[in-house]
Amino acid sequence: MKFPDTRPRRMRKNESLRKLVRETELSLSQLVMPYFVKPGRNLKEPIESLPGQFHWSPDLLLEELEEIQGLGLAAVLLFGLPSRKDEGGTEASSPEGSVQEAVRRIKKNFPELAVITDVCLCAYTSHGHCGVVNERGEIDNDRSLEILAQTALSHAEAGADIVAPSDMMDGRVRAIRRSLDQKGFESTAILSYAAKYASAFYGPFREAAHSTPQFGDRQSYQMDPANREEAMREIQMDIEEGADLVMVKPALAYLDVIREAKARFQFPMAAYNVSGEYAMVKAAAQAGWIDEKKIVFEILTSLRRAGAGVILTYHAKEAAQWAKAGSGALAGGLRL
Ligand code: PBG
Repeated sequence: MKFPDTRPRRMRKNESLRKLVRETELSLSQLVMPYFVKPGRNLKEPIESLPGQFHWSPDLLLEELEEIQGLGLAAVLLFGLPSRKDEGGTEASSPEGSVQEAVRRIKKNFPELAVITDVCLCAYTSHGHCGVVNERGEIDNDRSLEILAQTALSHAEAGADIVAPSDMMDGRVRAIRRSLDQKGFESTAILSYAAKYASAFYGPFREAAHSTPQFGDRQSYQMDPANREEAMREIQMDIEEGADLVMVKPALAYLDVIREAKARFQFPMAAYNVSGEYAMVKAAAQAGWIDEKKIVFEILTSLRRAGAGVILTYHAKEAAQWAKAGSGALAGGLRL
């Protein structure tokens, strides 16, 4: 009896058997598609560093969202670009900002679509940092918190379902929760970028969001890629401060962090499959070196397997298109 080594093999004989023992499933309802919104009308401008991604004006974004809903996607993440940048990132909290306008229009037209807004100042400040900077050239954490809380509130007022602070200032989840509650937005949720590493994988995003720091880097507020215990402390703090979902970012080089956080906290987890991860796949696919569909489904599956319930990915729309075209089967029978 070759019992121990033949049993797994017997269950791999055909797709039905493989499905019976499959541990991880991926569904479109778990994917979030990010969009970059800029002020203006009738704009859909390609982003060079992110092939297939665009800067959208709020009006054209509406048409795009109608399309992705038709494909079965149900959640989007919006990043805003301002009409002008300044030291304090003033436009981030303006009711007339591109994100605020887009959210109002989306919620009016598609109330069922889950709208998540990125809350950060880096695209809005002239220096490109995620918070405001004091006379000594350091990030002023507490002053930044006030502005971030105002920004989150302006998104909630526009109708955002979830606000997602990505700045990594200390105490921002509590500050945002408090200001939302004070103004009657108890039911607006917070997705915190809880463990956000100081990563080179954000390169293409910074080009897209025009948010590269003009001096210094983000290492004083983003995490050292060498640290996992610290990630657990950051995540724990954000849960205690009132986050409804916590995120690990980037995703692929940090699967161990996702896994450990899920096991430790048993809390809803999100993973951000960031711009650099997307750009690498696109570049290799364009060169004909990899099978993009298979790679994407394998990546998304790995994030689910690690413990992410929610996956933010620039591949969401294409994954939905592939699934619709029936090529989900290429992904080893993933149910999509
Ligand atoms: C803003 C922010 C960044 C990303 C999301 N929000 C970039 C950064 O911290 O420089 C990166 C997303 C991506 O790379 O896709 N703070």
